[in-house]
Amino acid sequence: MLSDNLLNTFRRSLLNWYDSNKRDLPWRETQDAYKIWLSEIILQQTRVNQGLAYYNRFIQQFPNVQHLANSHEEEVLKLWQGLGYYSRARNIHATAKTIVSEYNGIFPTDYEEIIRLKGIGDYTAAAICSFSQNKPYAVVDGNVFRVLARIFNIDTAIDTTSGKKEFKILAQSLLDKNKAAVYNQAIMEFGALQCVPNNPDCENCIFNYSCSAFAENKVQYLPVKSKKTKVRERFFNYLVILDGSYCFIQKRTENDVWKNLYEFPLIETTQKIDFSELVLTDSFRAIFKNAGDIELLHNGFYTKHILSHQKIHAVFYTLKTFSTNISINRYEKTFFNKLANYPVSRLIEIYLESQKII
Ligand code: ADE
Repeated sequence: MLSDNLLNTFRRSLLNWYDSNKRDLPWRETQDAYKIWLSEIILQQTRVNQGLAYYNRFIQQFPNVQHLANSHEEEVLKLWQGLGYYSRARNIHATAKTIVSEYNGIFPTDYEEIIRLKGIGDYTAAAICSFSQNKPYAVVDGNVFRVLARIFNIDTAIDTTSGKKEFKILAQSLLDKNKAAVYNQAIMEFGALQCVPNNPDCENCIFNYSCSAFAENKVQYLPVKSKKTKVRERFFNYLVILDGSYCFIQKRTENDVWKNLYEFPLIETTQKIDFSELVLTDSFRAIFKNAGDIELLHNGFYTKHILSHQKIHAVFYTLKTFSTNISINRYEKTFFNKLANYPVSRLIEIYLESQKII
């Protein structure tokens, strides 16, 4: 149990630090729960610098929840392009629809109702409640885990249920209940600017006199995670099939990465194979009626693409054929120079950039 004295000193120091060091960010200038929600979902995917541009584009295109709800999912995915984790984009679209249909277009104000919305967990609900209404819910994101783990020298793993609970209780006890909005911004900002993951400048930190990890030389080891992320290796063989100025694309519909984004016809294999082996696979034969009518224009463009839990080895083969030779009409035929209009993964975008297509 921390003494009131210590709690008050901690809060006062943090708020003073924030006052002198905070960045001016548009979502800090508003109490509009819709805008705060969008900013928080974007910031779960990227850093502030990149997130700003996405946030501004989203607010410009969808100034309120009705605009977002009335849009097509593909518009939302296109705006989200490059951020990754596309289920977040699908969820914000679905949640905007729920807010319009079930809440008359007015963002709910109750924590229990907010957390029931699709794509909103404990962190986001606490952020929305505190930033938009100053309600006393402490946020615990990666920044907060790091700051608390170090200052209080806690080595409980942050990716365990018990660890999450322990940090949540501590964060809630530290929260300045009358200034929840500014306090929450302050602790996250402190983690983002001062108590950074690698090589923090502890010599010039307001808490270095009281930080337990600093005293014990353990800053670089905290916070602790229990699991190493398992990375799955996958092998994607993309077929960029040209027919005059057209090519073929498909929408990914399975519950897998990049659901509802577009891509070229794909053959996934369990290991790296070259083109001479690829043409012999059942999948390849299933796509073409007559492989003899195909011309390979140049050798594959190979790239490795890293996601949080997957390493994708992708190769793109450019082939020339006639539409009549494509046996399955599961593909959409589109102008090659219209590809930039479709929502695609960063991997496909990298390919298109490499070919000077966008
Ligand atoms: N990261 C997550 N939420 C944030 C916010 N509101 N401001 C700055 N960085 C953040």
